[in-house]
Amino acid sequence: MSINRKFVLKEAQKKALEKILSGANVCLLGMAGTGKSEVIKEACEILEGQGKVIKKVSYQGLAAQIIGGSTIHSTFKLSHDYRKMKLSAYNVAHLRNVDVIVIDEIGMVSENMMDTIGDCLSFLDHPVQMVVVGDFYQIEPFDDDKKRTGYYLDRKYAFQSYYWQAYDFEVCFLNEVVRQGDFRYIYNLYRLSRGDRSVLSYFVKNMCPYIIEDAIYICTHNNDAKRINKEKLEALKGEESHPFMASYEGVIDLNSLPGEECLVVKIGLRVMATINTSKFCNGKMGTVVGFENYENIKVKFDGYNEVTTVTWATTMIERTDDDSQYANTEVRFMPLRPAYAISIHKSQGQTFDKVNVIISEGKGAWAHGQLYVALSRGRSLANTHIEGNIFNCRIAPDAVVKEFYKQFGDPGIAA
Ligand SMILES: Nc1ncnc2c1ncn2[C@@H]1O[C@H](COP(=O)(O)OP(=O)(O)O)[C@@H](O)[C@H]1O
Ligand SMILES: [Mg+2]
Repeated sequence: MSINRKFVLKEAQKKALEKILSGANVCLLGMAGTGKSEVIKEACEILEGQGKVIKKVSYQGLAAQIIGGSTIHSTFKLSHDYRKMKLSAYNVAHLRNVDVIVIDEIGMVSENMMDTIGDCLSFLDHPVQMVVVGDFYQIEPFDDDKKRTGYYLDRKYAFQSYYWQAYDFEVCFLNEVVRQGDFRYIYNLYRLSRGDRSVLSYFVKNMCPYIIEDAIYICTHNNDAKRINKEKLEALKGEESHPFMASYEGVIDLNSLPGEECLVVKIGLRVMATINTSKFCNGKMGTVVGFENYENIKVKFDGYNEVTTVTWATTMIERTDDDSQYANTEVRFMPLRPAYAISIHKSQGQTFDKVNVIISEGKGAWAHGQLYVALSRGRSLANTHIEGNIFNCRIAPDAVVKEFYKQFGDPGIAA
């Protein structure tokens, strides 16, 4: 079977592809931009051509979009507090025919989540091939039970899970960066990922010194993304919609709401879908072309010919007010977000021609890997602007990640 693409796969990509096609459980590692996701796409096309059923998943909706997959939560029918769920065959009833599970951005998958996926799959009556792909030097898992384990927990990453051992992965490395072309930039990204602070000034000296007007903004903190999206809305001419207000009982953590508490749009606003439906998936980008107040928003999603009517969605979310007799509340919300600015977490996996990196004033990057992910999204440093103090950022990787890589001799990057 032949696949149309603009480039030919590098040797290491071909080897990884062959390994996946051999049916082995594969763990594919490599720095940001080494073409890991591209290998997955090609492998899946070939396997699907052979009649195999494949489920591609990722932690974040946007990252899942890149490989044409869905989120881990939606695929395995997991709630936000999935650790408390009683798992059953129900979680995998729709995966009865699946042959291969591919998890991209495995570095964001916690030990708990990896074991939950393994537990779900154990309800199937046949084994599946497991392919996990990512870079543990990028953003660490952040959905873990902090109360139980604290921030610097010993067992946090997927490679520390029970099922990681059970899957007995064959490990492949890609060590040639293809997203960027400038070797000095690539080498300094590598050193940044390994926690070398001496390269920070290189990025400041060589970046684009001013905000790039038509570029996406990626932010260390959600509040900055919200502020920028609001400014972009205000800058658009035309009539504002009435606010589409989320409704729910009691108190909830708004970070777990897959949408805005109060969404206002104008015609021309760039938006992103925040849930999966039969008409669009989480992370899909588009432009608002109309709205009916209180009812719906009409969106022309990128790559679609027709206009999609997006209307209210509902989900159950845990209540955080202790005195309630109900643990959860039903939330009704509009499943869209403005898309000019996103968190660096959501940007992991993306390639941008131009990008503004916003480091929150006085706070810096708060998770190791955040700055590395941010600075490796662009194709060139000349088209990357950094706003804020990168010297304030935490960049030292976790010792357990270094240990994990040591067993394979950490091949790093090729010259
Ligand atoms: N062999 C290749 N030659 C040229 N470009 C490539 C190649 N493989 C991937 N790319 C492109 O490089 C960018 C980064 O690839 P991606 O698969 O997203 O990397 P990763 O998943 O390792 O971060 C993408 O734009 C992708 O299309
Ligand atoms: Mg990728």
